[in-house]
Amino acid sequence: MSICKAILRAVSALLILSSAAFAGDDAIHVGVATCASSVCHGRAGEKDDSIVAQNEYRIWAKYDRHARAYQTLKSAQSQTIARKMGIPDASQAPECLRCHSDYQATEKRGERFYLEDGVGCEACHGGAEHWLDNHYGEQASHSANLRRGLNKTEDPMVAAQICANCHLGSNNQLATHQMMAAGHPRLRFELDTWLTLMPYHHVVDADYRERKGEVDAIDRWLKGKLVTAKQYLNILNHHSQTESLLPELAVFDCHSCHRPMQSSDDPAAGIALAPGSLRIQDADLRLLESAISVRDGKLANTLEAQIASLHQAAGKGFKELRQSCQTLESTLNRLEQTLSANPYSRQEKGRLQGSLLAAAARGDFRDYADAEQLFLGLQLLAEELDQTQTYQGLFSLLDNEDNYSAARIRQEARRLMDTKPKE
Ligand code: HEC
Ligand code: HEC
Ligand code: HEC
Ligand code: HEC
Repeated sequence: MSICKAILRAVSALLILSSAAFAGDDAIHVGVATCASSVCHGRAGEKDDSIVAQNEYRIWAKYDRHARAYQTLKSAQSQTIARKMGIPDASQAPECLRCHSDYQATEKRGERFYLEDGVGCEACHGGAEHWLDNHYGEQASHSANLRRGLNKTEDPMVAAQICANCHLGSNNQLATHQMMAAGHPRLRFELDTWLTLMPYHHVVDADYRERKGEVDAIDRWLKGKLVTAKQYLNILNHHSQTESLLPELAVFDCHSCHRPMQSSDDPAAGIALAPGSLRIQDADLRLLESAISVRDGKLANTLEAQIASLHQAAGKGFKELRQSCQTLESTLNRLEQTLSANPYSRQEKGRLQGSLLAAAARGDFRDYADAEQLFLGLQLLAEELDQTQTYQGLFSLLDNEDNYSAARIRQEARRLMDTKPKE
């Protein structure tokens, strides 16, 4: 290596080191108002000759529920939840604000930062203190922005982690069973669909692809599942450190307790569990099992056995539950390598469709939340494969959460297997 090159390397290594000091969570959040000017991100319509559309603020303010997340805490529904929980005011309670606003420590709130702005730009894009002044214009580059602390939201693993903290919860912010019993909706999440629903405030065009790479919906879906599955295991692990008689109930499958009191129509399906067992939320793990079966059958079998052990551990004790979480976590790390080596080919997507339906026909997607994720996944795959398949039958079985039947889902999956388009 020439001396010049060696010096260049050393300097760039230093630059990376020094900018790393910027990055992370210590940056001040400057507030939505700072981004919203009409010459920045607050244009009324899309701007053609600029790299980004510049109407992001308008889309967020008008169509995105994140913009109203704080206002929700003033609604009648929130007041009821708060009253039942003995919280004086939901809009001042950290346990609600953590997810319904960009809840930063006081010293990290800039002059134009308001909790009232709800889930604002910086809740996802990161505190702008170090990149606000130089993230646009001739001299700016995406990699420099990232070094100054802009979150890499185009990376599905990064985006999923950001969303999951609120849409699934984390160890320090959870939509608890107490909140649910007081009237909070049950949380559900799937990265690809939720990004579309948000709705998108970015445009994937040629220059977007050049700056940030291709977007593959299936890749994003599966990486999203990987992140939420890991996050869930983390939460489960965390809540099995308890001394109390009952653990946090929101970490289990809701319908393993909430169902009409009659013998199930489907006692033996899927996992080998004694009737009346408490079940964990296994939808993401099940999807990953089907996904990886397309690439590595052995790993899929390992995962299947470990999901069964996790379910069983929930009936044994906290120690067993923690051990099971840890074993699964390392399996997911192996799975991550295989999964993210390269996006699924068209042929693999077709096989994944088949393996999902086969798993559903066996009864692996046993609970309501499983079937919900199954439906979203199948629909996404059909769209990506340009099929006209709509899964109306499956959708109608999800119509009423309280009238859900695992047996009917199995039947429908069998029917779909017989009518599946050939890939
Ligand atoms: C700081 C917490 C937080 C983060 C981070 C977050 N969300 Fe949300 N999200 C919420 C809250 C709270 C609501 C409900 C807002 C309301 O209606 O009051 C919501 C609502 C939504 C909705 C509307 C849901 C519906 O049923 O219509 C979508 C879609 C959504 N979020 C997608 C995402 C995606 C995708 C990400 C990650 C890129 C994300 N969210 C990150 C807190 C968050
Ligand atoms: C772990 C994050 C989290 C916590 C903590 C949380 N929420 Fe939510 N909340 C959400 C998300 C995400 C949604 C959107 C659910 C969806 O539609 O998918 C939501 C939705 C709601 C809704 C329904 C909004 C609508 O218009 O449908 C209300 C009301 C609500 N939350 C109030 C509260 C209150 C009150 C608290 C505190 C006691 C609280 N939330 C704590 C994440 C959270
Ligand atoms: C709930 C999370 C979330 C919130 C809130 C949010 N964004 Fe985004 N934003 C994303 C995601 C995800 C993308 C798409 C991935 C990417 O390109 O980074 C994105 C993309 C963008 C882009 C990139 C467009 C491009 O072509 O590269 C801009 C600019 C942007 N957002 C600005 C804003 C502004 C301004 C606000 C506040 C008014 C905001 N965002 C609020 C998640 C969010
Ligand atoms: C281990 C069993 C168990 C699990 C798992 C469980 N719950 Fe509950 N749930 C209960 C019990 C016990 C009550 C109290 C029933 C009562 O007051 O009569 C309850 C009450 C409720 C209520 C209030 C019902 C009422 O009539 O007032 C709601 C809503 C609720 N749970 C939602 C959920 C959701 C959503 C989940 C999943 C995230 C869940 N539960 C998981 C046991 C469970």
